[in-house]
Amino acid sequence: MTDDESETGLARTPPMGWNSWNAHSCEVTATDIRDAADALVETGLREAGYEYVVVDDCWMAEETDEGGRLSADPEDFPNGVSALGDYVHDRGLKFGLYSSAGSHTCQGYPASLGRERTHAEQFADWGVDYLKYDNCGNHRGRDAVSRYAAMGDALAAVDRDIVYSICEWGQSGSWRWGRNVGGHCWRVADDAVAKWQTSGEEFGLGIADIVDHVAALGIAPAQAPGGWNDPDMLQVGNGPDSAQSQHEPTDIHRPLTDAENRTHFAFWCLLGAPLMIGTDLTDISADLLDLLTNEHLLAIDRDPLGLQGTPDRRGATQEVWSKRLHDGAAVALWNRGEEPTDIRVDIDETAVPTAGDRYTVRDCWSGEQWETCGDLSARVDPRETAVFRVSPR
Ligand code: GAL
Repeated sequence: MTDDESETGLARTPPMGWNSWNAHSCEVTATDIRDAADALVETGLREAGYEYVVVDDCWMAEETDEGGRLSADPEDFPNGVSALGDYVHDRGLKFGLYSSAGSHTCQGYPASLGRERTHAEQFADWGVDYLKYDNCGNHRGRDAVSRYAAMGDALAAVDRDIVYSICEWGQSGSWRWGRNVGGHCWRVADDAVAKWQTSGEEFGLGIADIVDHVAALGIAPAQAPGGWNDPDMLQVGNGPDSAQSQHEPTDIHRPLTDAENRTHFAFWCLLGAPLMIGTDLTDISADLLDLLTNEHLLAIDRDPLGLQGTPDRRGATQEVWSKRLHDGAAVALWNRGEEPTDIRVDIDETAVPTAGDRYTVRDCWSGEQWETCGDLSARVDPRETAVFRVSPR
């Protein structure tokens, strides 16, 4: 890749959009996808940058044709994939589809291992702009790099720009090779579920579990424009009624609280993560829309340096994280305890470039702005996160 290409390539900022899995699970239909596309436009989410509409697992018919080609489930997607892609494109959005680097998808539908060229050509013909590529099915003895490289090569060979989203759950360190096989993002963990924390026996990881997992991995250097560590799709707005919560064996008794939703979203932005909304957009609340379109947080997620935020201080009740930005840094003060608490940090402890002796601080929740000589502090409610954008004067 030349320098020029690397500056103009795909996913220079983390991909943003909506994915069907958390909201609809294996019951997804073309109507759900069209409704989501309409809602992205009507709610202003498209304007805020959410552009990909991704159909996750279960869109395919149970059998391929004699050439191994995929087709859409005739009942749930009666007009086929191409017409659905047109519908999405007609609304100024981009269209995404799902397959797996194995014999079958996680829900047992036909997938792409050994048929990568054929399927990549189908995707391009159908107007697909984004491929989420899972890790289920029989791998036929092949390692992850070879399986994911085969689809990366096939996508590179078609005459269409397709964002390649590697969903290998980080099992064999996809952050180490994801970019080399053509990937634009790579999952770093098991599935996120609509819960703060899960116990060992439950399916999936809660929001706090994923933050812990990312901290422990220490993979910030793997991320840069064009290739992103992916902590999984957003569970913002979800709870026991979400289709994924009902589909998977996780005990979920209540929706994420407002504080949990805010901390979840703030951390995904601080990590510079892909932002794939996973809630039903047809009855989303005004508060959740405000959260998902918070311009200060989105600017942190999409900062041109493309760095991943990292922890400066960890603890059972208080954590400080920061992310270097092109003009300063974002600093997050997270109360992970159960009581309101004062969190204080000197910016020397964080990623803020300490060039001067005065700094402008913006509170990313209220939009308020002030100056500091180096001290940052906030009273933070349980499970809330204060987020500041700090720039040297
Ligand atoms: C999982 C994947 C989820 C979802 C699901 C569909 O492997 O991590 O995000 O795509 O499969 O079956």
